[in-house]
Amino acid sequence: MLTLDGKIAVVTGALGGMGRAVCERFGAEGATVVGMDWTDEGSELFAKEMAQAGSKFEFRKVDVSSAVEVDEAAEVVAAQYGSIDVLYNNAGLMQLKPILETSNDEWDRILDVNLKSVFLMTRAFAPLMADRSGSIINLSSTGALRAWDSLSVYGAAKAGVIQFSKVAAVEFAPNIRVNVVCPGMIDTPMARGFAAGLPNPETAWETMSQQTVLQRFGQSSEVADLALWLASDQSSFVTGEEIAIDGGSILR
Ligand SMILES: NC(=O)c1ccc[n+]([C@@H]2O[C@H](COP(=O)([O-])OP(=O)(O)OC[C@H]3O[C@@H](n4cnc5c(N)ncnc54)[C@H](O)[C@@H]3O)[C@@H](O)[C@H]2O)c1
Repeated sequence: MLTLDGKIAVVTGALGGMGRAVCERFGAEGATVVGMDWTDEGSELFAKEMAQAGSKFEFRKVDVSSAVEVDEAAEVVAAQYGSIDVLYNNAGLMQLKPILETSNDEWDRILDVNLKSVFLMTRAFAPLMADRSGSIINLSSTGALRAWDSLSVYGAAKAGVIQFSKVAAVEFAPNIRVNVVCPGMIDTPMARGFAAGLPNPETAWETMSQQTVLQRFGQSSEVADLALWLASDQSSFVTGEEIAIDGGSILR
């Protein structure tokens, strides 16, 4: 039997690097996946690829920082499926900027997309898990676990995700488990964009990969392995945890 057979999974940021890999893994393991992203560019092709792989997938265009859009999406999902089993809050936006150069609007945007979205999605979708044993997985970052230059706002938002998740794990027990994934350097469009913003991007990419103990960037498929374990009943006694997947980058 496949690990997520018969389960319904909602994945946000579904068209990004890790979101896509997680949709593919959940689908391959038997879940019906509802993927959400604020853009629908490339969504038709992705839906076609998922169908070709034999996975049950549908896409919905949702800005997860908008309470109105999130609540509407929850109503549609509730009407269609009745209940869900997995909520994977993956949508995120990174900003590399010193504190003194950060505007009010930038603070609001980074906090809204990375932290408020997790609250909005949890408030809207956790009630759809009430009768079942659900798993909520929220994406933080090693940017929340140590100080990285110019990542104050993003780091603060991602640190907020950890504390929010711990309280949610207590509030929703014993029906729903809530855990946090803290990726380090994973090779996705976000990480490539981060390197592109540094002086000498190619050298920066190499230097960043050497900062991990394992001396390389991680792959989205490796994050999907962890996501699958947390989503499945194989992690049934794990809740309120934050798990770094970073090749050991926070060790030094
Ligand atoms: N790549 C890394 O090295 C890294 C490291 C630490 C944490 N993370 C976190 O992991 C998660 C996935 O990152 P990724 O590297 O795959 O990023 P990505 O940029 O490849 O994908 C992010 C996705 O989120 C979507 N998104 C952004 N704002 C949205 C919104 N308001 N509503 C709906 N969708 C929205 C984007 O369109 C995109 O498809 C993010 O939360 C990110 O902060 C990434």
